[in-house]
Amino acid sequence: MNVLLELLVVIFKVIGLWLLAVIKALVPSRFQSKKDVSDQVVLVTGAGSGIGRLLSVRFARLGSRLVLWDIDELGNQQTSELVRSAGSEASIYTVDLSKRTDIYRAADRVKQDVGDVDILVNNAGIVTGKKLLDCPDELMQKTVDVNCCAHFWTTKAFLPAMISRNHGHIVTVASGAGLFGLSGLCDYCASKFAAVGFDETLRNELGKQGKTGIHTTLVCPYYINTGMFAGVHTRFPLLLPILEPEEVVDRIMNGIQTNQAMLLMPRILYLFLILKGMIPVTVYDTLSNFFGVNDTMDAFVGRAKSK
Ligand SMILES: NC(=O)c1ccc[n+]([C@@H]2O[C@H](COP(=O)([O-])OP(=O)(O)OC[C@H]3O[C@@H](n4cnc5c(N)ncnc54)[C@H](O)[C@@H]3O)[C@@H](O)[C@H]2O)c1
Repeated sequence: MNVLLELLVVIFKVIGLWLLAVIKALVPSRFQSKKDVSDQVVLVTGAGSGIGRLLSVRFARLGSRLVLWDIDELGNQQTSELVRSAGSEASIYTVDLSKRTDIYRAADRVKQDVGDVDILVNNAGIVTGKKLLDCPDELMQKTVDVNCCAHFWTTKAFLPAMISRNHGHIVTVASGAGLFGLSGLCDYCASKFAAVGFDETLRNELGKQGKTGIHTTLVCPYYINTGMFAGVHTRFPLLLPILEPEEVVDRIMNGIQTNQAMLLMPRILYLFLILKGMIPVTVYDTLSNFFGVNDTMDAFVGRAKSK
């Protein structure tokens, strides 16, 4: 096709897609058509607490079959009981997601015990909360292994079956810290930026292969009140509130069921992301400091017991 004609087609397409996205964003979620996840096999990593547990229970209420992965056997067991009380079934696996061989071994067992995975939720995450020079090397390595590399290995294990059926969904729970770097989260931000890059590349690779039946959803929330970031504070809570887990899970479930590619929470992060690409770095840093972003981690304590 002539390049000018191609450009014209692209311009019309972009305008159309933009309008569609705006309309979709304005329509309340209860009026949007949602995909049926009943009987779908949903694997959630980090299912033993926080967001992973809540997501597992939500999927269970919708009739999905759950596969729960966590290093915390007891927490995972408790989630499986909640899943059963919600009327569904759960298979639980104790997996250390910082270990590639553990992941592949557990994935083989899942394929034998349960079958193909329809929805993979890469949710497990850890945070050290230490500044670069205070953080032991092994902990930094582990942060990258759990928060990013584990996504490589789980996806490599379960994507081939999705590709052969042209059906599936891969959810990357990253963070706002995967889009904006801030003081005190060097290893965490690096690992989450990597997870964001992973999601974006995966989406494009699938698109290039014409695998329209496989969807991806990137999740980037600001701080959530689950305990993982206990102690953090926010200077302007009306603008940048510490999010409640249930509202985050509402948005994630809606995003998955409407095949949304990217979810930033709170929504003002979309504006910050646009601004970040438009303003000089010095201006951006000045604004970040004003909003107190670089002070949020000053009183961080995290979880009482490390896993
Ligand atoms: N809490 C927040 O403020 C916040 C903000 C943005 C993004 N996130 C992200 O959301 C996700 C869920 O966080 P959460 O708040 O529910 O945290 P959480 O600590 O409640 O849950 C994380 C789960 O991951 C599991 N896990 C940790 N290391 C593991 C390992 N090596 N192998 C297997 N499982 C392991 C833990 O046992 C735990 O059950 C994480 O990826 C986190 O980075 C959290």
